[in-house]
Amino acid sequence: MDGVPQGTTDKTFYLETFGCQMNVHDSEKVIGTLLQEGYRQVETVEDAGLILYNTCSIRDKAEQKVFNRLNDYKKLKKQGKKFGVLGCVAQQEGAKIFERAPYVDMVCGSASYRNLPAMLVQIEAGMRATGLDDRETDECFETAFTARTNQHRGYLTIIEGCDKFCAYCVVPFTRGKERSRSSSSVLAEGRQMADLGYTEIQLLGQNVNSFHDPEGKKTFAELLTAVGEIPGIKRVRFTTSHPRDFGRDIVEAIDASPALCNHVHLPVQSGSTRVLDAMQRLYTREQYLERISWIQSARRDISITSDIIVGFPGETEAEFEETLSLLTEAEYDSVFTFKYSPRPNTPAIHLDDAIPDEEKARRLAVVNEHQRAIGLARNRKRVGLVLDVMVEGKNEARGQWIGRTAQNMTFNFVAPSGAELAVGGYVDALVTTSFPNSLVGEMVWK
Ligand code: SAH
Ligand code: SF4
Ligand code: F3S
Repeated sequence: MDGVPQGTTDKTFYLETFGCQMNVHDSEKVIGTLLQEGYRQVETVEDAGLILYNTCSIRDKAEQKVFNRLNDYKKLKKQGKKFGVLGCVAQQEGAKIFERAPYVDMVCGSASYRNLPAMLVQIEAGMRATGLDDRETDECFETAFTARTNQHRGYLTIIEGCDKFCAYCVVPFTRGKERSRSSSSVLAEGRQMADLGYTEIQLLGQNVNSFHDPEGKKTFAELLTAVGEIPGIKRVRFTTSHPRDFGRDIVEAIDASPALCNHVHLPVQSGSTRVLDAMQRLYTREQYLERISWIQSARRDISITSDIIVGFPGETEAEFEETLSLLTEAEYDSVFTFKYSPRPNTPAIHLDDAIPDEEKARRLAVVNEHQRAIGLARNRKRVGLVLDVMVEGKNEARGQWIGRTAQNMTFNFVAPSGAELAVGGYVDALVTTSFPNSLVGEMVWK
């Protein structure tokens, strides 16, 4: 843990995290803050004095699931335990959480984590604490106390919130307005991470490429290059890029700097301009495909991945098929696919969600099958390549090492017998077999 003192008192907490990388990284900051305040992290609810849930509200009946879970823990209240609901459901439901689950002590959205120390004092004094009013802040939550769980690859937030307001999405409501950190502050944290031994940095933001340096010093592409130039940093990743703000300079930066991973996650959501317009995605199919052509014509082989929503209100069969043809043109290495789910507060909640769930499920299966074939064909072409792999661990049962390529693919490989590889180290490995979502091969000496 990054220089964070372990608590020595008997104040203990348990934290469970749901949702995206932003939430995972927020939890690392929350843990750092709690340790700094003298708490000790424990692995079970039973051992904890304070139970925290960092929640996600992106799909399905997320809020109901949180209430069901809180209900399970009602009985623990008698043992004097305290409860806190953090994250996107906390921000969305707000004080309603206290009404429906009166045993909850703290409700805090992600924009209010800077106030956690004061809120902890309040709940310890037996009061309720609420952190819901900071979504319109201009500042990001910057803390010197981040308890990163992996010692080799770490997240680094560069931008928080979202101003895009896609018709289906809760994020602008749960995370508040878009705000960037300064490039100097990002680079200082990057250098600190390198000093601690990190070799991979993943820059984070809901729309990482909408970064707008408040100091006016660097564009997003220049920031990427500068992070890649930090001594000791071998890999720089960034998620998620929004197509509207995706400039050619990002591709040029990747081409020019080997430390920048040759992978772009560029969610398209739909291949139909009509549906994209209804989704308020701010680009057409043609504009999206133009960006794809920039990436495909780069000197390096840049892997492209995406997110797809099927069954958005009014999506016709013909429009759905446009998504399939876009998948073929974009030649993605992988896609995350979702059935549209209506979400509170979003503009699309007022549209008639007329596509039956079975039809959404069918479209989901079709799109997944379509992508499987594309992924397999892409990976077959990788057989025979020697790739740089970061070692992540070992599957003892299979006698294989598990690694990750710069393109963010899982690569399972065998090493010469007796070779003990260091987790977090880098090796070269030859691809001998491929699957739609992973590569298999053997280590070769550099
Ligand atoms: N900021 C990123 C993604 C954020 S959420 C972007 O704009 O691309 C991650 C993914 O969840 C989205 O890309 C979308 O595919 C999916 N998603 C968000 N809201 C959804 C909803 N209401 N129903 C189904 N999928 C949704
Ligand atoms: Fe949601 Fe759209 Fe913002 Fe992404 S860009 S977080 S999908 S509103
Ligand atoms: Fe979920 Fe909030 Fe992330 S809704 S996906 S945790 S921004």
